[in-house]
Amino acid sequence: MSETFICLLLIIFMIIEEPITMATGYRILRANYTENFEIFCTEPDFFLSVTSTYSSEHKDRKWDFTCGSSSQISVSSKRSRCYWHGFSGIYDQPFKLECLKNGFMQGIGSIYSNHHKDRMWDYYCCFKDEYSVKNCYTTDQLNKYSEPLKYNIPDGYVLRGFNSSHHNIYEDRIYWFEFCKLITATSE
Ligand SMILES: *[C@@H]1O[C@H](CO)[C@@H](O)[C@H](O)[C@H]1NC(C)=O
Ligand SMILES: *[C@@H]1O[C@H](CO)[C@@H](O)[C@H](O)[C@H]1NC(C)=O
Repeated sequence: MSETFICLLLIIFMIIEEPITMATGYRILRANYTENFEIFCTEPDFFLSVTSTYSSEHKDRKWDFTCGSSSQISVSSKRSRCYWHGFSGIYDQPFKLECLKNGFMQGIGSIYSNHHKDRMWDYYCCFKDEYSVKNCYTTDQLNKYSEPLKYNIPDGYVLRGFNSSHHNIYEDRIYWFEFCKLITATSE
């Protein structure tokens, strides 16, 4: 094979294998069906995308969160103050989870109940004195029952919360996510 041909093949693969985000480096935080999990994205990284797929066999979703750096958020050297909110909500019921004030989610925890075929959620909110959130918005409903979910978070935005509703026949949930632009005193 000629070098040009190999180059062409590589380019075609690069086009097909379109990266999930345009970030330079990212890692995938993965949670499999029925697993309990606790995932973190730590500064200078932020959540970049979320995808999820339902399995009717497991009556659960697996999740992939990508975590990487943002070209829009200037990261300061000061440590964030972060805390786990604690599990809240009731199996099979609607819920809404949200970091308050200028908090944003840098971690998510979840436990799966075999009995309820549903999950409870915990979330890790972070704050930095010199950061505030603005332009918050809630997405449209991101999935249908038993169907995949995929969302790319706009660069410069952070996860502030998510809400959800459960269906007993599908044994699944639909989700909405809330994002905000993270700004520092120097970004404006
Ligand atoms: C995820 O779970 C499925 C079903 O339990 C299993 O077959 C698969 O190997 C698991 N994948 C990983 C990456 O652990
Ligand atoms: C989730 O939040 C969105 C936006 O506020 C709202 O339209 C939707 O009805 C909420 N879903 C549930 C189940 O509360």
